[in-house]
Amino acid sequence: MSDIITIEGGVPLKGRVRIEGAKNACLPIMAASLLCEDRVTLSDIPALEDVRTMCKVLDALGARTAYDPEQKKLQIETAAIIETKAPYDLVRKMRASFLVIGPLLARTGRARVSLPGGCAIGIRPIDLHLKGLKALGAEVIIGHGYIETVAGRLRGERIYLDFPSVGATENIMMAAALAEGTTVIENAAEEPEVVDLANFINAMGGRVLGAGTDTIRIEGTTKLTCADYTVIPDRIEAGTFMVGAAITGGEITVENVIPAHLSSLIAKLKEVGCRVEEEAGLIHISRREPIRAVDVKTMPYPGFPTDLQSPMMALLALAKGTSIITETVFDNRFMHVDELRRMGALIKIEGPTAVIAGREKLFGAPVRATDLRAGAALVLAGLAAQGKTEVSALYHIDRGYWRLTEKLQALGARIKRHPA
Ligand code: UD1
Repeated sequence: MSDIITIEGGVPLKGRVRIEGAKNACLPIMAASLLCEDRVTLSDIPALEDVRTMCKVLDALGARTAYDPEQKKLQIETAAIIETKAPYDLVRKMRASFLVIGPLLARTGRARVSLPGGCAIGIRPIDLHLKGLKALGAEVIIGHGYIETVAGRLRGERIYLDFPSVGATENIMMAAALAEGTTVIENAAEEPEVVDLANFINAMGGRVLGAGTDTIRIEGTTKLTCADYTVIPDRIEAGTFMVGAAITGGEITVENVIPAHLSSLIAKLKEVGCRVEEEAGLIHISRREPIRAVDVKTMPYPGFPTDLQSPMMALLALAKGTSIITETVFDNRFMHVDELRRMGALIKIEGPTAVIAGREKLFGAPVRATDLRAGAALVLAGLAAQGKTEVSALYHIDRGYWRLTEKLQALGARIKRHPA
């Protein structure tokens, strides 16, 4: 029987919480281990379902993964990559499995990956990934639910992305690391996780320059070697707790964060009426004033992250006044709206825009996590709502949050996880 989370709302969060390594940095870095013909040791790897799925994908390709959840360390031996097909039953669970196509192709000259699944947030095409791999010299064949790529040694090329896709930037960067000559990605994604991947490739002896700007230059090499690497902290998990403090009128310190990665959220939370102070590796946040309505537009980094759009919507549902949220990154990322409405939120959707008429109270209700970040938003709404909220479909939340219930309990929330 699957678990549910029950929350009795109304307790302000108080205390300190430590943030895990970034899921969205771990997954591409794990895929990039395929580039190295040796062994890599990764630290601060959270015990998430998505990390387990990526371990299974790598194992299916012939790598040997050994994960120690206590130490949060993951060793990956990649000497013997004997399989070039990433199977459907793993890839369908998690879209990020598609990130193995670039490194696998570069390493073995061939990669067959099932068409990706993951959160059902809109049409998530892979055309930019494929455009990049083709530009590097790969032949791409699509059929029977699989994408097959074949190439001799890849050749560096200049590639312009029509949209700064995080995954396409990462896949191309990984493939280019073993290509002959230099690749330049223009209009590249600038997300901190892209920078972390570049740093990891460089730690293996690669040469990636300019990550974190819109132009990334990758000078290909023939061989990458073993590396020890610690991933960056998860800015989305940190942001989720920060919104938790804001929505409950609490006061918390978030530890193991890089405040610069959260600038857009910090700016918005200050506009909302929070006090936010930054220190090296720490953010203190509290709210005593009423929640003010603000407008938010999601954008590629350094804009406001789409992954924090639904938590922000839960917060603004309790604002004094009307807020507008515009989602520009994904085309169907409002699935949490129906569930928030069940808790009394007054939200209207028109195309990519949500109009949120703030009200004084939300009310506890049974709700369903419709995707990973929507799940987090419902938990946050439950923390502030009057009465009991029951959140089901927790497998979405488990993909990206490690011990969310326990961490919130430690901050004083009346929350528990139990069989349905
Ligand atoms: C990554 C993150 C996800 C986050 C998203 C945007 C991981 C594992 N996941 O997802 O949490 O929400 O960045 O910050 O890191 N697109 C195309 N063609 C492509 C690829 C993407 O049109 O070939 C479009 C998508 O449909 C979407 C937009 O680009 O509308 C952004 O997608 P992308 O940046 O690629 O997100 P992901 O890498 O999938």
